[in-house]
Amino acid sequence: ALTGPKEMFEKAYAGGYAIGAFNVNNMEIIQGIVAAAEEEKAPLVLQVSAGARKYARQIYIMKLVEAALQECDLPICVHLDHGADFEICKDCIDGGFTSVMIDGSHLPFEENIALTKKVVEYAHDKGVWVEAELGRLAGIEEHVVSEKNIYTDPDQAVEFVERTGCDSLAIAIGTSHGAYKFKGEARLDFERLETITNMMKGYPLVLHGSSSVPQEFVEMANSYGGEIPGAKGVPEDLLRRAAKFGVCKINIDTDIRLAMTAVIRKTLKENPSEFDPRKYLGPARQAVKDMVQHKIKNVLGCSNAI
Ligand code: G3H
Ligand code: 13P
Ligand code: ZN
Repeated sequence: ALTGPKEMFEKAYAGGYAIGAFNVNNMEIIQGIVAAAEEEKAPLVLQVSAGARKYARQIYIMKLVEAALQECDLPICVHLDHGADFEICKDCIDGGFTSVMIDGSHLPFEENIALTKKVVEYAHDKGVWVEAELGRLAGIEEHVVSEKNIYTDPDQAVEFVERTGCDSLAIAIGTSHGAYKFKGEARLDFERLETITNMMKGYPLVLHGSSSVPQEFVEMANSYGGEIPGAKGVPEDLLRRAAKFGVCKINIDTDIRLAMTAVIRKTLKENPSEFDPRKYLGPARQAVKDMVQHKIKNVLGCSNAI
């Protein structure tokens, strides 16, 4: 059933595991993710960015999720990813989303608080969950380009949550969006994460930019005409560790893109006379399923958590 994140995150927090929040924008992606979660009996967050809403249109995404919910017996949240302003959050709340993210992370502290508070007031009135963000991730997002990481300050995090009433908080501890997360060695600031967790006991944290950029997909894409050299993600063991420290929601988009694109490149190259989209979108959907199933089972630890 369509569910808010409250119970999901409470159980995840207590169990030291995380829920996967996967970005969706078409049928194959939704079917791949849901099939994986179904086999693993895992709760799910399906998240939709502004770009995804624009690409697929909200009604199509909602109807696809509705179809998935009719076929499976999983708790699924539909979440707005990186809401840039009050209006898009309101639109999604009114449109039946179970949770929204208001991303004021690029704003000065007080402005981030004011904006988040405004969304919280509207959302809570309708029983909708609000994720906010404090600290800045390096990399490219739709509405913000940030040159460098600004890690979340633990004292500010406490004050931010108290003053805004937001339900979960995305923090910056060294992850970033996209396929190029680390130039040298991959590292996250676990000391900071531990401090934040200890200061905010029981409070659900969110980790964005958590794709692992599996090298098998990077190599597959590159050997079939792609050009994504030097791509690097967050090692899986670091994500597993983060899940033990109050990180209840782990966001993954890039790995879905890589899995689909690598397999589509390979399939097209190996079958040059094929032109039926189902012949390459089918294998791409299967690759999403296998990848997500591996994450649920071996990285997030949320198998059999429904
Ligand atoms: O945080 C960004 C997500 O990967 C969504 O990306 O805005 O290109 O849909 P998008
Ligand atoms: P990745 O780019 O690491 O997949 O992060 C996705 C994300 O944070 C979506 O909000
Ligand atoms: Zn993100």
